[in-house]
Amino acid sequence: MKPQRVIVTIDGPAGVGKSTVAKLLAKALEVMYLDTGATYRSLAYAAVEANVNIADRERLVAMAKRLPLQLRQTAEGELRVLLDGKDVTKKIRTEEVSEAAAHVAQEPKIREALVALQRRLADEHGVVVEGRDTGSVVFPYAPHKFFLDAQPDIRAKRRQDELALLYGRKTPLLQVQEQLHFRDSLDRTRRVGPLVKPEGAIVIDTSHLSASDVVRVMLKHIRAAGGQPAS
Ligand code: DC
Repeated sequence: MKPQRVIVTIDGPAGVGKSTVAKLLAKALEVMYLDTGATYRSLAYAAVEANVNIADRERLVAMAKRLPLQLRQTAEGELRVLLDGKDVTKKIRTEEVSEAAAHVAQEPKIREALVALQRRLADEHGVVVEGRDTGSVVFPYAPHKFFLDAQPDIRAKRRQDELALLYGRKTPLLQVQEQLHFRDSLDRTRRVGPLVKPEGAIVIDTSHLSASDVVRVMLKHIRAAGGQPAS
């Protein structure tokens, strides 16, 4: 009998450690890692670069339908984001792109096109996928679903560290908190694909856990559900 394809979804707000955990888990399970946020960020980046107004819905939907996006995984498990063949991995992480992505993600027709792209990008052998609606919309029938959360001050501190790595300087914590709060409210209140705990998802509070602790907890659940032989 053909073994069941491993699909693990990890959802949650920004700053809960989804990406780090998803990469480690994908490595442990030897499957592909898919960052759905990178699709929204890449579209936002392409729009900013082409001087397209973020409010120009029709243009953005057309761009989303033929976004020349490729995801490559390095041997270390890192993700390289290629747009039109060019490496934009770092460029899509700036605050400007984060804000534009949060707006782009509000439009139902854009989400429809990007969800279709995410399903195409998912490997047929198995995938660990992370985002906001991966367990509720992208892969609602995934056998393993997780929802990560953490205390707001800890999330802000993690995002501050991420930005420091990117820019080489510290962004004031209050500013980071405000940006997170703004994006959270957009994520939670949009009509289509809002950030919700998917039905059947296991909730993990990562406030006081390291990434490898979280992966250990996840692997335990996956193995208990018969998703992966114990090693
Ligand atoms: O996870 P991230 O910060 O890279 O996400 C970038 C933006 O895309 C963020 O505003 C939320 C949005 N997003 C979404 O709406 N649905 C997803 N599945 C993933 C991200």
